[in-house]
Amino acid sequence: MIEYKLSGVPEFKRQSWEGLQDKATTLLSDLLEEASSSPAPDAMLGWLSLPQGEVVEACKKYQDENLDFFYDSIFVCGTGGSQLGCRMLEEVLPFCQYMQGKEALATMPIYYVGQHVSAYEFSKTQATLKSSQPLLVFISKSGTTFETSVSANFLIDSMKEKYPDNYQRRIVAISSGGLEQKPGFDELLKQPVLDLPKDVGGRFSVFSSVGMAPLCFAGFELHELVEGARQCLEDADEVGQQAGLQASGLCLFAADRAGLGKEQHLEAFMYGEPALEPLALWWQQLFAESEGKDQKGALPVPVQWSRDLHSVGQWLQQGPKVYWQTFLQSKTNGKFSGMENMRSIHASNSDPQASFDIKDIKFSLGKAVRKAHLDSGNQQLHLWLDEWSPKNLGYFMQWSMLACVVTCKLQGVNPFDQPGVEAYKKQFLNGLV
Ligand code: PA5
Repeated sequence: MIEYKLSGVPEFKRQSWEGLQDKATTLLSDLLEEASSSPAPDAMLGWLSLPQGEVVEACKKYQDENLDFFYDSIFVCGTGGSQLGCRMLEEVLPFCQYMQGKEALATMPIYYVGQHVSAYEFSKTQATLKSSQPLLVFISKSGTTFETSVSANFLIDSMKEKYPDNYQRRIVAISSGGLEQKPGFDELLKQPVLDLPKDVGGRFSVFSSVGMAPLCFAGFELHELVEGARQCLEDADEVGQQAGLQASGLCLFAADRAGLGKEQHLEAFMYGEPALEPLALWWQQLFAESEGKDQKGALPVPVQWSRDLHSVGQWLQQGPKVYWQTFLQSKTNGKFSGMENMRSIHASNSDPQASFDIKDIKFSLGKAVRKAHLDSGNQQLHLWLDEWSPKNLGYFMQWSMLACVVTCKLQGVNPFDQPGVEAYKKQFLNGLV
């Protein structure tokens, strides 16, 4: 389902990291083997069994048992890995539906709180909350993230004002347990807590209740997405046995990333659909927070074509080559109709009446961007999906998490911790006056 290709890298350079591909294959099969043999919780491998579990069913059960009142909007209170996956899927799933020529599902709006301490943003949230019948989903694995906690308290106060007698039933908490030991969380514990397994870290938690519950409560259909993730794990499992095509693409990508990363520390993440912006941000967190340790790792910088070609595109083509590009594309451009006759002044020289299907325009644009940037001396990694569908999206997400862990291990860094983030949290608490 995912094809991988490398371009623009001279052969002698690629050969300098040739050994990494075999290492990547071994690392991937070791990882999957370890995950299947009941590893200790601190191995943090719980995310590898989520797609085989019944997470979506558990969220639905929770909804049936606890949310038997009317609500018309969801406020997700969380940050980093406790928010980016859900936010991305809220936008990318409808895009996938559209690209398959399907009607959008009737889902309710989701608002996100917890990534700032801004009076302006809080006041906007408060106004939205006042005019809706909200459900608040508080998400924190640790229960110690201050942006989330400040926002939760702000939202709870607003809920108390609006529903003085029964605001508690509108609050769902998702955590790895232990919240009750921390002061200030009593208000979150009036409903049963939805469990996030201890061995699932934030940026690997999208297929747990963290990503699935808010979307499920908002009316999203998630089975195909999860099926894609499960399929990816099945394909990856074949590595070592018969070196399956998909898995070897994954290992090649992980190896090339580690190879390029010896010299370059920026990745321009190139995508051609505005709806994929949250996917680019999800990717950015996954790789930056996992790889960025010991002076290693590349920072993914989202670049949207066409939008950014008319701003940072110039730098990408003729500025210093301190980065590589990763292109994410699909081979087909959707089944939608009504855009078969798009016209542009550019057709007028040859045939003033000429019109083009939007699919062909998109295809030519992608080709032009890749070629112009390659000709300017860029190194490019290409990831191709057959098409954008919920199943392929789930496959891609699981594939990305596996590739991320393998490339981190190739670079000798722990993919699952974030000591820098913890240090910042500590500084803030020490300095709080
Ligand atoms: O990926 C991670 O581990 C982080 O981005 C966390 O998700 C983020 O810091 C929020 O942490 P918590 O869920 O403990 O509030």
